[in-house]
Amino acid sequence: MSNFAELSVNGKTYKLPIIVGTEDEVAIDISSLREQSGIITLDIGYKNTGATKSAITFLDGEKGILRYRGYPIEQLAEKSTFLEVAYLLIYGELPKQHELEKFKGEIKEHQLMHEDKKKIMDGFPSKSHPMGVLSSLVTTLTTFFPESLDPNRPDAKVDLTIKRLLAKMPPMVAWSYTKERGLPSNYPDNSLDYVSNFLKMMFALPTKAYEEDPIVTDAMEKIFVLHADHEQNCSTSTVRIVGSSQASLYASVAAGVNALWGPLHGGANQAVIEMLDNIVKDGGNTEKYIEKAKDKNDPFRLMGFGHRVYKNFDPRAKILKKQADIILNKLGVAAPELEVAKKLEEVALRDEYFVERKLYPNVDFYSGIIMKAIGIPTEMFPVMFSIGRLPGWIAQWKEMRENKEPIGRPRQVYIGEKVRDYVEISKR
Ligand code: CMC
Repeated sequence: MSNFAELSVNGKTYKLPIIVGTEDEVAIDISSLREQSGIITLDIGYKNTGATKSAITFLDGEKGILRYRGYPIEQLAEKSTFLEVAYLLIYGELPKQHELEKFKGEIKEHQLMHEDKKKIMDGFPSKSHPMGVLSSLVTTLTTFFPESLDPNRPDAKVDLTIKRLLAKMPPMVAWSYTKERGLPSNYPDNSLDYVSNFLKMMFALPTKAYEEDPIVTDAMEKIFVLHADHEQNCSTSTVRIVGSSQASLYASVAAGVNALWGPLHGGANQAVIEMLDNIVKDGGNTEKYIEKAKDKNDPFRLMGFGHRVYKNFDPRAKILKKQADIILNKLGVAAPELEVAKKLEEVALRDEYFVERKLYPNVDFYSGIIMKAIGIPTEMFPVMFSIGRLPGWIAQWKEMRENKEPIGRPRQVYIGEKVRDYVEISKR
């Protein structure tokens, strides 16, 4: 393959370097185009734009492949744990036994929450959406650990900042949940592993101890592993771009939490269950909603279907579909929304509109169903996704800094008014 692409505009030809990735992905490096020609490229929604060169996650949407640091997601979901995957994403290699033990120990050491955080929690109105509470709490870490503010400082201790964030995310998430419910906040239990400890902080009550169900813990572990990174998605790109201004890890990740909140991204799993609830309330007529989703004059979309990059199947959805079946069978959960979900899945998978556009159930469709079945309230779904995505955000922020990437600052094609003179208000 040639090392250069040639672009002709108005009779002039510009040479642009070709970059080839490990998996033979080909990109045209247009970074010198404006300098050469005064021309920029336009790609609204970055549908065809690589924002970085990354060694963390490989994804082939056409073939349904997802790998973290080269390891297939199917193997990681089956054989590893969330903290092992976090280590892999952040440090680049699977940990040896002693490395993993040390990593786990350090995380346990930092999971206690400053009591002043309780006062901050008290200030939130009751019924606050837990995503708003979580992103605020992540930002407040900058105030408890001011040395994290400038990651360039020689005493910044970036690795400690990373471990603190991994350690404090589960209690912050659990507290965002107990706050909303008006329940007392639970403290971490160092005798438990990461996911069990998190579930205990969520569900233990002063009147009723939390009884661990290994099926539930396993499903949660898998959901976290499957969400741990997804290359340059909306929230991860947000984390990288905020971090590129040299903002701290906590500030960058708080921005990532907010980016994840929207229903087209991490809010989709919540939107899935809300959609299912609405369909049930409306009589459970799935055909009607399939027709609505296909109607271009109707803004309704089938939430949990379709993906920007997976145009064949979502490998994460395949794994979680199995897990959803296990959970539903074992827990014997029968809920009308879950019946509607099954029907929607069946109809959409053979409907021409969905087949033609390659719209398959995505990971959020099944993660929503699993979390509903294990009793996690819908508004908590994107918050759970935040715990899962945290290692990816951290790894991508770290990589962006290690690559010494410049500040992210896209250009635009201006389509507003040409220059015009100010008109006095009395004359308008
Ligand atoms: N229901 C009905 N039609 C759809 C849907 C849907 N869920 N998704 C896409 N389409 C149609 C869309 O109307 C368009 O049709 P046409 O070509 O006739 O105009 C075509 O399919 C292509 O859609 P698009 O909007 O150009 O695709 P996109 O890549 O910009 O959007 C998406 C991807 C995920 C935002 C979109 O499929 C969607 O809104 N899905 C529902 C929300 C959802 O489940 N989001 C979670 C994504 S997975 C979590 C994550 O990784 O962040």
